[in-house]
Amino acid sequence: MIGLIHERRSRRGGGDWQKGKGKIRVSATKQLAEAFKKSRYQIPGHGPRNIQVLKHALAELDGSLESDIYGKGAVIEEFEKKIAAVLGKESAVFFPSGTMAQQIALRIWCDQKSLSKVAYHPLSHLEIHEEDGLKKLHLIESVLLADKTRVIRLEDVQNMDTEVACLLLELPQREIGGQLPEFDELVAISAYCREKGIKLQLDGARLFEILPYYQKTAAEVCSLFDSVYVSFYKGIGGLAGSILAGDEAFTQESKIWKRRHGGDLISLYPYILSADYYFEKRKDRFPSYYEQAKELASFYNSCHGIKTVPAEPVSNMFHVHFPLPKEQMEPVFLSACEETGIGFAASILVVDEANSYIEVSVGDNYAGIPAEALQQAFRVLDQKLQDVLRG
Ligand SMILES: Cc1ncc(COP(=O)(O)O)c(C=O)c1O
Repeated sequence: MIGLIHERRSRRGGGDWQKGKGKIRVSATKQLAEAFKKSRYQIPGHGPRNIQVLKHALAELDGSLESDIYGKGAVIEEFEKKIAAVLGKESAVFFPSGTMAQQIALRIWCDQKSLSKVAYHPLSHLEIHEEDGLKKLHLIESVLLADKTRVIRLEDVQNMDTEVACLLLELPQREIGGQLPEFDELVAISAYCREKGIKLQLDGARLFEILPYYQKTAAEVCSLFDSVYVSFYKGIGGLAGSILAGDEAFTQESKIWKRRHGGDLISLYPYILSADYYFEKRKDRFPSYYEQAKELASFYNSCHGIKTVPAEPVSNMFHVHFPLPKEQMEPVFLSACEETGIGFAASILVVDEANSYIEVSVGDNYAGIPAEALQQAFRVLDQKLQDVLRG
């Protein structure tokens, strides 16, 4: 796991082009991404992120519908009310990004307690993907709980040797394959935080994705938290955007911070309308994605050397680990994709020098793949893997 963060950072500057025998050739990384894009069937996701995603969302709408203006107007207010009700919270605010929404949530809770310290997982989005926004913009310190391979447990919270204003829990914990604590453990963490006066923030970027495993409604999960963020472009598949929800005083204050952050774009309606459209379209599909993720993980686990994390998924997402470096896995996936027309993954990530992994999120694509073609693709993948493993 240690190499994972390093790889994510270094990957950004990674070259797509390599010099080989005097001429420039496309790297295997780029070839795999291209082959995935062109494949007849792609296993993960909902399909390409192109302009059609927005066109579909707007197609049926009346062109005279008025735009929102600086956070006001029916189009934004009605969506905020609707999602507040779904989450069982008093009030909600639409934000252009989850990054903005969560930093603001933590700032509010820190100000309220006059204590600039929060706790979260070492692989939380705030810690590894936000260029230290929380620390640089808000001067808030982070206390990292649990180790990088597992989720935060009650005892991690109880054993914290420093006081914090807020604990943020990410459900599911994306960077470790979307692992989840059991629901009873969440209930116990929530009760402990309430008793100790620690606010609890839910990073629910993938909240709808975990409800089938917990067998709970969104409101039941959110009732354990003081404030909640949900995303509309992950499992929901909209363009971008998020909702931050909580009590009225909290959301009113979050609106002031949203203005300070430049988050009140004069109009956010393309994001809001697409969020609403894809929420309605996909909100009842999460149980199927979850069942399909379990089936898909079992196909991967039946291949030589492959292990999924978690062994059995608890949402629509999981990681697939290979006992081979990225450079050896790329040609395996590339040739399996070209031979079968099935795109397994667009990119392979590094664990360390000898191991690699992919992240899989099941969406609409999966149901469209003929069962026989999928099984044949896994037979081919397994054969190619065995050839490489035998050396
Ligand atoms: C767990 C988690 N939290 C927060 C975010 C931030 O969301 P946004 O991209 O809307 O800023 C992400 C985005 O990938 C995420 O995965």
